Amino acid sequence: MPSKEKILVIGSQGQIGIELVERLRQIYGADNVVASDVKEIARIDQSHTGLYETLNVLNANRVHEVVKDHGINEVYLLAALLSATAEKDPAFAWDLNMNGLFNVLNMAKEGILSKIYWPSSIAVFGPTTPKKNTPQFTIMEPSTVYGISKQAGERWCEYYVNKYKVDVRSLRYPGLIGWKSAPGGGTTDYAVQIFHDALKTGLYTCFLEENTELPMMYMPDAIKATVDIMQAERSKIGIHSAYNLNGFSFSPKELAEEIRKHIPGLKMTCKPDFRQAIADSWPQSIDDSRARSDWGWKPEFNIGQMTSDMLINLNNQKKPKS
Ligand SMILES: NC(=O)c1ccc[n+]([C@@H]2O[C@H](COP(=O)([O-])OP(=O)(O)OC[C@H]3O[C@@H](n4cnc5c(N)ncnc54)[C@H](O)[C@@H]3O)[C@@H](O)[C@H]2O)c1
Repeated sequence: MPSKEKILVIGSQGQIGIELVERLRQIYGADNVVASDVKEIARIDQSHTGLYETLNVLNANRVHEVVKDHGINEVYLLAALLSATAEKDPAFAWDLNMNGLFNVLNMAKEGILSKIYWPSSIAVFGPTTPKKNTPQFTIMEPSTVYGISKQAGERWCEYYVNKYKVDVRSLRYPGLIGWKSAPGGGTTDYAVQIFHDALKTGLYTCFLEENTELPMMYMPDAIKATVDIMQAERSKIGIHSAYNLNGFSFSPKELAEEIRKHIPGLKMTCKPDFRQAIADSWPQSIDDSRARSDWGWKPEFNIGQMTSDMLINLNNQKKPKS
């Protein structure tokens, strides 16, 4: 049976997009998933197997054009400036993170799109939020431009659902760790870089202090959660801002110890920079019981399984192809 989903992924060349497009094409068929990004495809060092459009999400006419040309009915909007990068250009971060979202929400309001996925982040929380097992509904006073934009985005998503009956679904991702693509300028990027440096030189300099505990998740679980929430019956989605989502929590010291089980000689030194203040404002662990009870969320990886899988895959990647 032909897929009823015609999907556009905006921001497909980033850390999540590369893996999400691959998974969506497995599920819905390559012909039903259009990847798009502001980056020209020719400049990207990735092998591409499907439809691709160069598109700036801030150009509403261009988004309309691509949606119309491909008969798109679902959009996964991943284009954003992440926490560390956003601090360097707050005005642009606000513009991209908010107006990109409005362009897509308004197409759903007009009835052109039937479903939207837009990710939020643990950055919606702030220094006054309870840090341990952070509840779904709690104090939210984000202190970063990224967190402010994600919190505002959540409010607008809920507003559009209530006011215009659009179907938009969202998850508050923790820091994401994957081996297929490079991270895009977040405060949790260290948890990816440490694997590369451990394998390459056995030395890693961390930009966070060694006991900074943050919530994290292995990319296969993040992709699974994204697919699961989008496939859930609409009646099961009880939260229209964004769902808390938890994987596991660790500090740089704990991650280094886990990697040393495989690479005993790993040496880590810590030189905290401006990202320390961002990390200090975020929760240490997350209560995701609503995602579990509403639509059956359950992560598969713990820190040990993630670490083994990362090292196996990064080692395989390094081997010359025969
Ligand atoms: N990676 C994480 O740990 C994490 C955690 C929480 C939330 N998120 C959210 O998930 C989403 C995707 O994150 P990511 O890590 O893949 O980010 P990323 O920075 O790796 O990728 C974003 C992609 O969007 C593209 N892009 C930027 N501006 C664009 C524009 N104007 N038009 C079209 N494309 C544009 C970029 O070229 C890039 O390929 C973001 O909304 C981010 O806030 C990510």
